[in-house]
Amino acid sequence: MSITTIERVRGRRVWDSRGRPTVEAEIELASGTIGRAIAPAGASTGSGEAVDLRDGGARQGGYDVTRAIANVDGDIALILKGMDAADQAAVDGELIALDGTAEKRRLGGNAIIAVSMAVAHAAAAAKRVPLWRHLGATAPAVALPEIQIIGGGAHAAARVDLQDFLVIATGATSIVEALDWTGEVYRAAGEILKQRGLLQGVADEGGWWPAFDSNEAALETLYAAIERAGFTPGREMSISLDIAATQFFSDGAYRLRRDGRDMDAAALGAMLQRWAQDYRIVAIEDPVAENDRDGMIAFTRAIGGRCLVVGDDFLVTNADRIRAAAAAGACNTALIKPNQAGTLTETRAAFDAARAAGWRTIVSARSGETEDVTIVHLAAAWGADILKVGSFTRGERTAKWNESLRLAEIQGARFTRWRPLA
Ligand code: PGA
Ligand code: ZN
Repeated sequence: MSITTIERVRGRRVWDSRGRPTVEAEIELASGTIGRAIAPAGASTGSGEAVDLRDGGARQGGYDVTRAIANVDGDIALILKGMDAADQAAVDGELIALDGTAEKRRLGGNAIIAVSMAVAHAAAAAKRVPLWRHLGATAPAVALPEIQIIGGGAHAAARVDLQDFLVIATGATSIVEALDWTGEVYRAAGEILKQRGLLQGVADEGGWWPAFDSNEAALETLYAAIERAGFTPGREMSISLDIAATQFFSDGAYRLRRDGRDMDAAALGAMLQRWAQDYRIVAIEDPVAENDRDGMIAFTRAIGGRCLVVGDDFLVTNADRIRAAAAAGACNTALIKPNQAGTLTETRAAFDAARAAGWRTIVSARSGETEDVTIVHLAAAWGADILKVGSFTRGERTAKWNESLRLAEIQGARFTRWRPLA
């Protein structure tokens, strides 16, 4: 028995930023130390990702998680008791084997990721080190933020079709500067919307609610906000987009309802390429539906030399998918979401696969979030290029940005600046 031996595992039913129940796991070690973590939840989920176990039925809109919590308290607690929390691979291996399904349907991806992350927190606490250090880093590498200014798609009742209109502080030399500049752009965007009589509140992740007549109008507004804040788009502050194209793909066509247009992959790709040029866009996520491998290859070939082509639903934080995509020339950047993979070990494997392919990496939150800041430490420990956690407002988002600010003050901390592709 050591100080990192797992003594007790329990689940707690807590609440996420959409007002839905979610799973918190609490691990108590023999030393009495406790580690906790909370599962986030997506809305525009990829079909290949780990599945959240929800109760269904009428209570809490079917989103309740009492069965997932019972799995933490029951089978999971039983198998982890006596294991070493410092041996993450062994713990995750047991969780994967105990579940026994490819998508973690039996115990629930939400139960498993909460436990997997809580184990890491407990081990770090027992060693009296911050999580980033427990994960193997000697100093934190603070990732460049990618921050949503306008929300859309599944996060805004499809008020515009595209999901995220974001900025990356491509000229920033510190996290303080990157967040300062983003704050100016967020405020400028709000002022423009107010002047035009379009101010209507915020979407799921805290970006401005998209009260626009077309998808491109949102893009124009963001471009204007960057300029109004005193920056040159494509220089200090650049635009990125998460198209989340699966969300508006049906019966073989991309249906942009806001624009009244149906498009094939080639036409959508051509439009995005024109936008990338006109609006100096530096990153585009999920520009095709999650199963459109040929479309992703064509898009990457066309634009991947000058723009990050990011796979989210397309890759679902899966090492095998990342390797296959890299071999085929689809994408040049992986979005890394721990709850898509289901365990920390599998998340790390996906991250390493992206790195091995020479890709960029973006560690990402979900649209349903909490005060949990685990991903900030993952990004800092692993040296991710970018951290994406939604907008600049709402506590579940600022919890992550504020943790980044704290990590940046640690002796030896480095800020990961933007690196142009070309
Ligand atoms: P989700 O959205 O968490 O709803 O999947 C985030 C994203 O698509 O990047
Ligand atoms: Zn996405």
